[in-house]
Amino acid sequence: LNISMIGVPIDFGQMRRGVDMGPSAIRYAGAVERLEALGHEVVDEGDIYVPNAAKLEVHPKLRNLGAVVEACTKLAEQVATAVEHKKFPLVLGGDHSIAIGTLAGLAQHYKNLGVIWYDAHADMNTAETSPSGNIHGMPLAVAMELGHEKLTHIGGEQPKIDPKNLVIIGARSVDEGERELIKEKGIKVYSMHEIDRLGMAAVMEDALAYLRSREIDGLHLSLDLDGLDPMYTPGVGTPVPGGITYRESHLAMEMLQESNLLTSAEFVEVNPVLDTKNATANVAVGLMGSLLGESLV
Ligand code: ARG
Ligand code: MN
Ligand code: MN
Ligand code: MN
Repeated sequence: LNISMIGVPIDFGQMRRGVDMGPSAIRYAGAVERLEALGHEVVDEGDIYVPNAAKLEVHPKLRNLGAVVEACTKLAEQVATAVEHKKFPLVLGGDHSIAIGTLAGLAQHYKNLGVIWYDAHADMNTAETSPSGNIHGMPLAVAMELGHEKLTHIGGEQPKIDPKNLVIIGARSVDEGERELIKEKGIKVYSMHEIDRLGMAAVMEDALAYLRSREIDGLHLSLDLDGLDPMYTPGVGTPVPGGITYRESHLAMEMLQESNLLTSAEFVEVNPVLDTKNATANVAVGLMGSLLGESLV
């Protein structure tokens, strides 16, 4: 693959400072070298410019709206350019608000994009339903054209994803408004319940068969490191116990690789300030390896 690595050093989508250092932590954990060793050509495009605190917009239910809009607008352009040049966008966060920009950029080219959302959360709140006002809990709502217009209109006014092309894996902390939206839109969710009951192999087989049946023209993986159990990825801002294991996660990545469907990925919510010796970034880079072709023997 020709990989275009794009860092988004933003921590304005939530309240724990330090997740803006995620891209550095992931690079420091050897992301470029790991992928080059697999034979990929990797261009590290550096970081998207993120405005500083002076530009922050005070909005009680959409914290730091202006800064998030500015960074996501730039990210959308850069992701769209990468796809245009036949590159595989690999986006490094930053908090999960950046997915607003990534999905807006991908939607410029993919008209029936599939999305795998690997996360403890559903990230489907709007200002009205959010318990926190944190935009990192809203990107999937925004991609379905729900929420503030400054967010939904990034990369055009159209919805960026079809809710029927979305699969959520690892959910275990879902808010009331999100639950309603999941029902209303018929979104496919494999919560921890299904993972425990069926096992990760069956969950991934089912998820991939479902996405194929949707005749998607591209597949994006949005991996929030809090999808894993905090025992493996302690450096995240909103840890939830009872999560996906290290082994299940590697298996999921390997099955995604085998599927040959994947066209882009992002790794978010790595916060080195909350981490133990960069463990969370190390897990992220290991998962990137499995996702992009590492084999065990
Ligand atoms: N549902 C909660 C909220 O809306 C938590 C969201 C956590 N999101 C994340 N990307 N870690 O505030
Ligand atoms: Mn999460
Ligand atoms: Mn609109
Ligand atoms: Mn998330």
